Amino acid sequence: SNRTFTMIKPDAVANGHIGAILEKINAAGFRIAALKMTRLSAEKAGEFYAVHKERPFYGELVEFMSSGHIVAAILEKDNAVEDFRKLIGATNPANAEPGTIRKLYAESVGRNAVHGSDSDENAEIEGSFFFSDLEKF
Ligand code: GTP
Ligand code: MG
Repeated sequence: SNRTFTMIKPDAVANGHIGAILEKINAAGFRIAALKMTRLSAEKAGEFYAVHKERPFYGELVEFMSSGHIVAAILEKDNAVEDFRKLIGATNPANAEPGTIRKLYAESVGRNAVHGSDSDENAEIEGSFFFSDLEKF
């Protein structure tokens, strides 16, 4: 597929990095196919990250993701999922390559600035979590 899904997380929104992050996404050759600023309730955040429910950090993750506004987007580019995960860098910014979005803007492994889908299948599921068919077109 040529699509992936991203969120700019509450830390990066609160720190004023929305514009810089969208600029980097465009500069890397991604087209923004859908975009919205919104908030997740704790219940919705828990549903979005349900695959991690047995992990020790799940409670903290849900609390953080529902703590403020997020920006959700569907992005288009050849090889979108893999190329976007390269652009954002390692989950823990301490391990992220220089120039990646997480190296530049993340505070910690828990407050790591952006989400990127990990498969084509999840990109479709996650995009549909935030956007209607009309918005996704
Ligand atoms: P996402 O793009 O957000 O899915 O990150 P990822 O695919 O790089 O990592 P993963 O799916 O394994 O984990 C999901 C999210 O859980 C991460 O982005 C982190 O915000 C959070 N997380 C992962 N490991 C830890 C941890 O050890 N501590 C805390 N507090 N949060 C973690
Ligand atoms: Mg993940």
